[in-house]
Amino acid sequence: MAANWKMYKTPAETKTFFENFLPLVKDAKHCEIAVCAPFVDLPAAIDAAAGSNVAIGGQNLYWAKEGAFTGEISGPMLKTLGCEWVIVGHSERRQYFGETDETVLKRTKAAIEAGLKVIVCVGELLAEREAGETEAVLEKQYAGGIAGLSAEEKAQIVIAYEPVWAIGTGKTATPEMAADAHRVIRKMAGADMRILYGGSVKPDNVTALMAQEEIDGALVGGASLDPVSFSKIVNF
Ligand code: 13P
Repeated sequence: MAANWKMYKTPAETKTFFENFLPLVKDAKHCEIAVCAPFVDLPAAIDAAAGSNVAIGGQNLYWAKEGAFTGEISGPMLKTLGCEWVIVGHSERRQYFGETDETVLKRTKAAIEAGLKVIVCVGELLAEREAGETEAVLEKQYAGGIAGLSAEEKAQIVIAYEPVWAIGTGKTATPEMAADAHRVIRKMAGADMRILYGGSVKPDNVTALMAQEEIDGALVGGASLDPVSFSKIVNF
């Protein structure tokens, strides 16, 4: 169960979140929990979550280890700070920041080399779904962004299926639609791959989504910003 805070919260708000959140999930033994926070909040998050059952992650990284890349953050930087996870290829990065399947693969390989586990995001646009292209889009994103990983590298990732039209819109894919897309991904990724669903996951729809055998977890945006709401999702 992973939180993607996107561009929300200050370090002080991060500290307050964890003070409230950790007691609510301390008995959750059924899942791994990760909170992916903005870069500037990571030290506060790592400090607050130390010794708990909650891991911390970044939301992006650059593929070089270091160098003249103004404004970028590397895998080794996240790892030495204490991150365990990083999100790669979120649709917002694909839509607004030029992320492609090719750069998804580069970032994912660099993250794994740095010792991070990766949440690799895929998902179709509304126009693509309406044109009946969902399966083709997922196959293309997998072929370009994930298939180039070795078996050892694949063991270090989870895939998040996030239909773009369901992100931040309040429109969730029905559990059946999500499961259909997960089956397409699983055919390529294999039985051992953990596949998360993301897109308007809330406390009141998480149980139906998680009841689908194909859905192994959730990547949660808006509803992860509130500690009570995210704890309800974790403890579905
Ligand atoms: P929402 O849960 O706000 O729809 O965001 C989903 C998402 O993009 C998680 O990465």
